[in-house]
Amino acid sequence: MTGLDRPRRLRRTPAMRRLVAETTLEPRHLVLPMFVADGLAEPREISSMPGVFQHSMDSLRKAAVEAASAGVGGLMLFGVPRPEDKDAVGSQASAPEGILNRGLRALAQEVGGDTVVMADTCLDEFTDHGHCGVLAADGAVDNDVTLDRYVEMALAQAATGAELLGTSGMMDGQVGAIRAGLDAAGYTDTGILAYAAKYASAFYGPFREAVGSSLKGDRRTYQQDPANRRESLRELELDLAEGADIVMVKPAMSYLDILRDVADHSTVPVAAYQISGEYSMITAAAERGWIDRRGAIEESLLGIRRAGADFVLTYWATEAAHWLS
Ligand code: PBG
Repeated sequence: MTGLDRPRRLRRTPAMRRLVAETTLEPRHLVLPMFVADGLAEPREISSMPGVFQHSMDSLRKAAVEAASAGVGGLMLFGVPRPEDKDAVGSQASAPEGILNRGLRALAQEVGGDTVVMADTCLDEFTDHGHCGVLAADGAVDNDVTLDRYVEMALAQAATGAELLGTSGMMDGQVGAIRAGLDAAGYTDTGILAYAAKYASAFYGPFREAVGSSLKGDRRTYQQDPANRRESLRELELDLAEGADIVMVKPAMSYLDILRDVADHSTVPVAAYQISGEYSMITAAAERGWIDRRGAIEESLLGIRRAGADFVLTYWATEAAHWLS
């Protein structure tokens, strides 16, 4: 063996490994998804996501301040309305006093400027059938009627001070419709975080509990087929052409190849969403003592960064930011 054959030389000491590390993980690379529920006096733990809570308005503010102080890059807010407030078109999504819009105003007031406030711009939490859009007479999700609702929702969210709108519904043309609607109303500074590639995933399971989803069935007529890779580049191209400011891939861990593809082709920053099922799997295995919790979390986040994410939505954002700073 010659001296050229010894890559272990660069792995010998922590200092040497640090010197040559290619991928970094910093608090700013982490975005915390949060849930605010209507009518809650106390935060309520989500049983399938131990350590993650549906927040009351008070606990939302506190958790947001804690996250911002830890240096996280942003917060992504989801709203959980009372079941009796859901309807066929998700009216509460665009009502200024709907739970999500109230929560967004609280975040903008509490931590606006310290971290980036992001809103989930999708109807599924607010519809009584649980789909991400409005249904046609035959029960299918009506793409173009849904776009009108998304624009109404986006305008209400922009008015709260939310800086980035997360278009997670996978309707065709959603980025363009929302961009046009925002611009026409003068919200030219409100940005769009486009879920460019979003797959119909079994790993969303715990999230359905987190938001009290009413969905029966699945989202396979609008979210992507896990079998497909090429169409993510098509989705990316469309979102870029329609005016996406940032693009996202979701889920993360089972889709790292897609993330790499998107990162290689995108002309805007790329995010990835480490979703509920990814959180719950690591949490459950760690609870059983089967894996080292912190090691697994850090490795998962590093892997997502290495695959091409500029930042990662993760339910561990605050905790990991504390470790990293
Ligand atoms: C729906 C939405 C989902 C998630 C975020 N937005 C679930 C779904 O598409 O069914 C999942 C997030 C997670 O699992 O952590 N607009």
